[in-house]
Amino acid sequence: MEQLTGRNLNICIFISGRGSNLLSLIKYSKIKKSKIKINLVISNNKFSKGLEFAKKNKIKYHVINYSKKKQAELKILRYLIKNKVDLICLAGFMKILSSDFIRKFKKPILNIHPSLLPKYKGLNTHRRVIKNKDKFTGATVHLVTPKLDSGKIILQKKVRILKSDTEQTLAKKVLKIEHKLYPAAIEKFLKKSSL
Ligand code: GRF
Repeated sequence: MEQLTGRNLNICIFISGRGSNLLSLIKYSKIKKSKIKINLVISNNKFSKGLEFAKKNKIKYHVINYSKKKQAELKILRYLIKNKVDLICLAGFMKILSSDFIRKFKKPILNIHPSLLPKYKGLNTHRRVIKNKDKFTGATVHLVTPKLDSGKIILQKKVRILKSDTEQTLAKKVLKIEHKLYPAAIEKFLKKSSL
């Protein structure tokens, strides 16, 4: 893997919708001590609100038509190479990357998931923790592997669930911690990796 000398780390964020994690990472990339640069945003959805954050912050973005997955992934790979992307951060990207894509990209891919993995992989995490009357939930940043939500955990943060919590209040609380967790996890990952 290429060692970075003197330049900031190029990060590409993949989104599908709201983009609040994208926004928190953009903010983080602007602070003085940050070594990261968000140089590309990929979305499979032209209506993603998150694209507005890319536009406002003059970050290059591409909307990818996913009707043919193989072609879509090849197109993305081309953009990643062209933009010298060192790390992908999935932030609410609602498509599953193929093992072929993960292998061909060759560099790390991180994801943020709204549960304390390995519990509650997949969708509707808040609904399921409430149904199971769990005492805690949280968010996890992990490495992406071909197995869904199962790669090495980089960082997690817990949130206590109150009796009064609903799926909506919990989603709000977890999202709030996600915005701090993702930048912290990237920092931790960079310190330990050879990137
Ligand atoms: C977050 O809850 C994240 O954990 C999950 O998708 C949601 C994305 O939210 N993977 P946003 O688009 O970053 O606001």
